[in-house]
Amino acid sequence: MQENNSIQDYNSMQEDNSMQEDNSMQEDNSMQENNSMQDDNSIQDENFTQWEEFTRRVNSCRKCGLCENRRNVVIGRGCKTPEVLFIGEGPGENEDLQGLPFVGQAGKLLDYALEGLMFEEDSYYIANIVKCRPPGNRIPTDEEAEQCLPFLRQQFRLLKPRVIVCLGSTAVRYIIGKEERITRIRGNWIEKKGWRIMPTFHPAALLRDEAKKEQMWQDLYKVRQKLEEFETN
Ligand code: URA
Repeated sequence: MQENNSIQDYNSMQEDNSMQEDNSMQEDNSMQENNSMQDDNSIQDENFTQWEEFTRRVNSCRKCGLCENRRNVVIGRGCKTPEVLFIGEGPGENEDLQGLPFVGQAGKLLDYALEGLMFEEDSYYIANIVKCRPPGNRIPTDEEAEQCLPFLRQQFRLLKPRVIVCLGSTAVRYIIGKEERITRIRGNWIEKKGWRIMPTFHPAALLRDEAKKEQMWQDLYKVRQKLEEFETN
């Protein structure tokens, strides 16, 4: 995995031609400018067209072997103008069947936490490092992640979140850096190239180890507080 596979280097991405259509957004990775675009109808229309084109491209992707067995491509769910972007690893069986991320047991736990911490439904969007299910729910390979990350980078540009939450070690590996360890960095804000990133445990890890639950809640509470800070500033 080359250095530029981490998401913070998305500006340098050249290989995806559709990106060239939204070059204007490439300089705009400052989180502060997030919602100002929403007042402008022409930009909204443009955004809608870009989403349509993006969805078409992702749904027809055959860049890696994961396309062979997928039942659905799992692009994401949630608000298209979110404050927070949650990033997991990859679709599991339920997600593959329904075409939506985090709809199985881990997803229920995530929803429960977000509801409990009073995240408004229109404040977040959920996506994954890879958009097709790895067989047997194995961890995606570097090659699979590498092929899929350009799509996530494009999603960043469309969504313009103010905060990113990495759910688990796979998201940490590709968003923050492959040398980082979730157990060491979780719960600490990381700033990279203008992005505010909060790493925390993957909800599936909580299903295996109850003790992690409180830590994850604390981490997400920090995110919630950050959103309140945005509101008051
Ligand atoms: N685990 C993930 O990482 N993503 C999903 O969408 C579901 C389970």
